[in-house]
Amino acid sequence: MKNTLKEVGNITVIKNRSKLNYVVLVLAVLIGIGSIYYTNLIANQLKVRERDQIKLFAKTLETIANDNSEYNENVMLLFEEIVVANETIPVIVTYKDGKPKLHKNVKIPPGLTSDETDEFLKLETEDMRAQYAPIVIANKNDIGEVFNYEYIFYQDSLLLTQLQYYPYVQLSVIAVFFILSYLSFNYSRAAEQNRVWVGLAKETAHQLGTPLSSLMAWVEFMKSDPELRNKELTRELDKDIKKLELITNRFSSIGSVPVLKEENIFEVIRNSVNYLQTRISSKVNIYLHEEDELVFAKINKPLFDWVIENICKNAVDAMSGVGVIDIYVQRSQEGNVIVDISDNGKGIPKNLLAQIFQPGFTTKKRGWGLGLTLVKRIIENYHQGKIFIKSSEVNTGTTFRILLNK
Ligand SMILES: Nc1ncnc2c1ncn2[C@@H]1O[C@H](COP(=O)(O)OP(=O)(O)O)[C@@H](O)[C@H]1O
Ligand SMILES: [Mg+2]
Repeated sequence: MKNTLKEVGNITVIKNRSKLNYVVLVLAVLIGIGSIYYTNLIANQLKVRERDQIKLFAKTLETIANDNSEYNENVMLLFEEIVVANETIPVIVTYKDGKPKLHKNVKIPPGLTSDETDEFLKLETEDMRAQYAPIVIANKNDIGEVFNYEYIFYQDSLLLTQLQYYPYVQLSVIAVFFILSYLSFNYSRAAEQNRVWVGLAKETAHQLGTPLSSLMAWVEFMKSDPELRNKELTRELDKDIKKLELITNRFSSIGSVPVLKEENIFEVIRNSVNYLQTRISSKVNIYLHEEDELVFAKINKPLFDWVIENICKNAVDAMSGVGVIDIYVQRSQEGNVIVDISDNGKGIPKNLLAQIFQPGFTTKKRGWGLGLTLVKRIIENYHQGKIFIKSSEVNTGTTFRILLNK
C-alpha cells in the first residue's frame, strides 16, 4: 500500500500510515538482530576465556599430580589460586576408568549415598563430553614416563549458558509486550470509531426527526384539503417525505442496536431492486435470479436495503451507466443465505482489492469512499454475516458476495 494524499474539498486526508509501520517493523527487526549479535559476541569472548581457564586448571592439576616433592609452597599456591578459585565452571575430574575423583561447581542432589553420587557424576560427565572433549592429564613417574591418565570434564558455566539464551528471552518478552499493546491500541481505536459512527448516525437521525414530523403534519393537512388532495404537488411532496423517512430510519437503525427480523430475503431484494430500477440509468438492467423463493434470514430491513443500494450504485458507477447487474439469491448447504451481486463493469485491479472496504478509499472524483465501509459494517457488525469480493476482473466485471446466517 502506498501513502496517498487525497484532496477532499479543503481537507487533506492522510491515508494509510503503513509506510511508517514498515519503518517501525524494519527498526524492530534491526534492533533484534543487533542485540542477538552483540550478546553472541560477548558470549563467545566469555567462552574463550572459560576454555583458557579450564586449560589452566588442567595444567595446574597436572603439575600437582606430577610434583613428587613432599611439600611445595608454589604448588599449594597454584592449587589455591586456580583450582579452588574457580567458582563458576562445572568441572569433574575422573580416573582413567571413569570413576570420579573430584568435582567442583556441580550441583549434586541432596541425600545421595557416595555410590549414588559417583553414579550421578558419571552421568554428568557424559553430558559434559557432549559439549567439550575432556582434557587428558598425564601422570608421570620420576623419569618422565607416563604411567596413568586422568580426565577433566567441564562444561559452560551457568553464566555463559544464560548469556546465550538471554537475548531470545528478552526479545520474546518485548515482542509479547508489543503485541499486547498493539492489540489494545487497535481495540481502543475500533471502539472509538464505533462511538463516532453511532454518535454521528444518532445525531443525524435526531436532527432530521423534528423538521420531518412537521413536514409530515403539513402533508396530512394538505391531503385533508379537497382542493389540494389530488394535486401533483401533494403527491410529490408525499413521496419525498417517504424518502426522507427512509433515510432517517436508516440512520437511526445504525445508531442503535438494530432489531433483526426474520424476512424473506428474495422479497426484500425484489422490493429494493424495483425501487432502484426507477432511479438509475435506464440503460442498466437489474436481474434478480433465485433458486427457490423461500429464502429466509434475520435482517434489519432498512439497513439491508441500504447495503443492496450501495452495492448496486457502485455497480452502476463501474459500468458508466450502461450494463447489467445480476443478483443471485441462494441457500448454502448449511442453510445460510448467499447473495451474489455481479456487474459487467470495469472491475477492480488486484492491488486495490485489499483497500476497497477501507474508509476514505475511493477512485471517484466525487466519491467519499464510505459506501463499502458502511456496507461491511452493516453486514459484519449488525448481522454477523460476511461480505467479500467473490471475483473481480479488470474490464470484465465484479461479483460481491454476502453471506447471512440462517
Ligand atoms: N462494482 C464495482 N466495480 C468496480 N469498482 C468498485 C465496485 N464497487 C466498488 N468499487 C471501488 O471501490 C471504491 C470504494 O467504493 P465506496 O466505498 O462505495 O466509495 P465511493 O463509491 O464513494 O467511491 C470505489 O471508488 C471503486 O473504486
Ligand atoms: Mg459507493
